[in-house]
Amino acid sequence: MRIFITGVAGFLGSHLADRLIKLGNEVIGVDNLIGGDIDNVNDSVEFHQVDCDLDTMVTLMKDCDIVFHAACTAHDGFSLFSPYLITKNTFQITMSVLSAAVQNKVKKFVFCSSMSRYGEQKKMPFTEDMLCNPTVPYGVAKYASELVVKQLCELNGINWVVIVPHNIIGPRQCYTDPFRNVAAIMINRMLQSKQPIIYGDGSHKRCFSYIDDVIYCLEKVLVQGNVNGEIINVGPDEEFVSINELAETIADIMNFPLKPIYVPIRPNEVKYATCSSDKARKLLDYSTKTSLKDGLVSMVNFISQKGSKNFNYTYPIEIINEITPITWRNKLI
Ligand SMILES: NC(=O)c1ccc[n+]([C@@H]2O[C@H](COP(=O)([O-])OP(=O)(O)OC[C@H]3O[C@@H](n4cnc5c(N)ncnc54)[C@H](O)[C@@H]3O)[C@@H](O)[C@H]2O)c1
Repeated sequence: MRIFITGVAGFLGSHLADRLIKLGNEVIGVDNLIGGDIDNVNDSVEFHQVDCDLDTMVTLMKDCDIVFHAACTAHDGFSLFSPYLITKNTFQITMSVLSAAVQNKVKKFVFCSSMSRYGEQKKMPFTEDMLCNPTVPYGVAKYASELVVKQLCELNGINWVVIVPHNIIGPRQCYTDPFRNVAAIMINRMLQSKQPIIYGDGSHKRCFSYIDDVIYCLEKVLVQGNVNGEIINVGPDEEFVSINELAETIADIMNFPLKPIYVPIRPNEVKYATCSSDKARKLLDYSTKTSLKDGLVSMVNFISQKGSKNFNYTYPIEIINEITPITWRNKLI
């Protein structure tokens, strides 16, 4: 098959490309490198360094069977302070990729959403049938994108699937962005002998998915013809850990004398967030292969080999006021 991947130089898109190429598919990939790295792109990908604007997407998507849309500036809490940048690269680009997919009559459109869609909920774990209640612009933009994906695909007879990954960890995740990827930031700081910074008291809880477990689900979604018109949480749901426990596990792996720096909590942060993977188990025959600890070991090895790096403050902070986290305002990370 000829498969079109947006965000192919990013963490998820590049691993997916590797897998699909290994399975014998032809992969056309696009990325403007705002958050990705050219080194991540498999040599066999027909790569185009472009923005996901409409005309370019229409041209490059020619004769593709399936579109997997992963391109995004995937910033949850930061989207409250740079709403224009983040929603433009979440909602608006989804509209151009989707419109191009319809114009090119692709057979299947897979949209990569986020658990940010769920926001604050009364019950846990989050299940796909819950009413979405996002607390940040990124989650709103993902949820709005999902609605339009469903509308346009159903109207035009295109198979569609929305996948909802949890927090993913693993090699190739960007570890120099101070605005996202908590585990990667902690590892990068500890390698520089700096204590991890924790927002709030560290009792917030999250689930982390190892990249290979997520890729397994994506492969199934893409190649299994009978999965259609579904929203599916992907990734493990077994280990639900606090941010304090996450820091302890990383420190343990790195043999680091842990004494976290606690700073005020970020606005609108969801206290407990975990998704049920029951639907993935049922539809995709999913089972977790990598424990949180093993996933973190692999990530520590990757970042250690690449070497610790300074954090990169290239994204503009649009709204700077007294509620903007001090770590970002004063570049403390
Ligand atoms: N990593 C996670 O923990 C996680 C969790 C849930 C959902 N997701 C979703 O998975 C997808 C991939 O995330 P990731 O972690 O690989 O992020 P990533 O930043 O590593 O990859 C995204 C890629 O999209 C590219 N991109 C952004 N805007 C673009 C534009 N306008 N035109 C072209 N390319 C553009 C970036 O350069 C980057 O390489 C995203 O849609 C994200 O919302 C990720």
